[in-house]
Amino acid sequence: MKRVRLKILCTSLFAVVLFFASCKKEDDNAKYNSKGTYIPTKIDPFSIFPAELGMPSLPSDNPFTIEGVYLGRMLFYDPILSYDSSISCASCHKQEFAFSDPVAFSPGAFGLKTKRNAPPLYNMAYSKHFFWDGRANNLRDLVFEPIQAHNEMAMTLPKLEGKLKNATRYIDYFNKAFGHEPNLVDMSKAIEQFMLTIVSNGSRFNRFFPGDSIQLFNMSELRGAQVFNGLVHFDPVTKFTPGADCFHCHGGELVQQQNFNMGGLANNGLDDVLTDLGYGGIVNDPKKYGTFKAPSLLNIALTAPYMHDGRFNTLDEVIEHYSDKMKFNSPNIHTLISSHGGFQLNLTTEQKANLKAYLMTMTDNKLITNPAYSNPFKK
Ligand code: HEC
Ligand code: HEC
Repeated sequence: MKRVRLKILCTSLFAVVLFFASCKKEDDNAKYNSKGTYIPTKIDPFSIFPAELGMPSLPSDNPFTIEGVYLGRMLFYDPILSYDSSISCASCHKQEFAFSDPVAFSPGAFGLKTKRNAPPLYNMAYSKHFFWDGRANNLRDLVFEPIQAHNEMAMTLPKLEGKLKNATRYIDYFNKAFGHEPNLVDMSKAIEQFMLTIVSNGSRFNRFFPGDSIQLFNMSELRGAQVFNGLVHFDPVTKFTPGADCFHCHGGELVQQQNFNMGGLANNGLDDVLTDLGYGGIVNDPKKYGTFKAPSLLNIALTAPYMHDGRFNTLDEVIEHYSDKMKFNSPNIHTLISSHGGFQLNLTTEQKANLKAYLMTMTDNKLITNPAYSNPFKK
């Protein structure tokens, strides 16, 4: 009796194994539909975006696929996108610096330089405003700006299309990802897919947020959090303020105010006389002159130099600006900064050190070492 049972068990186990083996075979075949067209492998967005950050709203006509994201990554790292094949996106957006550039103005094709500092790239899926002046709101269209800018990639679109069509490494990939030979629309969609997958959520700050795991921070970092998240409130006699109110414009787990009407767009008092009109220049509105997108401060220790023109080389200089060197006469300076009676914050040496320590907790080492974002041509 026992033997019979064992035999049945063995046979059914064998059947199960066979079943799975045949499934696997069918899966492989399922990469091609009945007409022999390759079907790319979908990626579940829940495997990309962490629960703590939530699910961003994603473009409905460009679902993530393994092939699409990989193609986008190749294009991001490929100098073929520039006129003389000398500059790739990654020449100015370097992974080790959270995809920013450690120089104030990046050299583009023919040695010409950018007019603003190359910002870091991560968590773009959560953003609807791109560039320092917020002039772009869609990554797919944005891609064509650096490609065609004379001081970045200096490329013409017909020439680019020709180069892609002739590159053997792309013919197969475009076909697999999009079912077409290389073309510019699919190129921009692939780069969009790749950029959307770049997520930064691995810093100690992100584990600390919203502040209920205080054991993750030392005393200095905790005090820094109080300076950062405390309101400006001067003692009438000593003029000491416990808080510097950074969080209104750089708040939440993305350390960025997304709403342009709530501090997400601001003049933070850098200059009495404006040299860059920022968002005001885009919308042609003098009341907005000198306003810029408030950047995320995640990875801030990696992304020097700072501000739209890279004027500050260190976080100490940034903190000194907010504490002691605010230009209250700057046109359109934000009320969150100017409404304290025009006093400099005059943070103490200790407050400054603590604030810096807090900012340093925002570095995500996983972002800068994640092989999924690295140069696919260097193995
Ligand atoms: C020569 C340097 C250079 C190259 C090459 C370059 N960029 Fe940039 N990138 C910049 C600079 C500078 C800015 C900021 C421009 C501004 O705000 O006006 C920027 C801004 C961006 C932004 C906006 C980020 C944000 O949060 O606002 C994205 C996205 C971006 N670049 C993607 C790319 C892609 C994709 C490529 C390749 C197709 C590329 N860049 C090539 C220098 C460069
Ligand atoms: C009213 C909104 C506002 C407040 C308050 C504010 N910031 Fe900013 N912050 C901005 C804007 C806007 C920029 C970009 C300005 C530019 O480049 O012209 C910026 C830029 C920065 C940068 C440079 C980021 C980069 O990638 O280059 C750092 C660092 C920074 N702020 C830290 C702070 C700290 C620390 C505080 C509190 C002491 C603070 N901010 C308060 C709006 C604000």
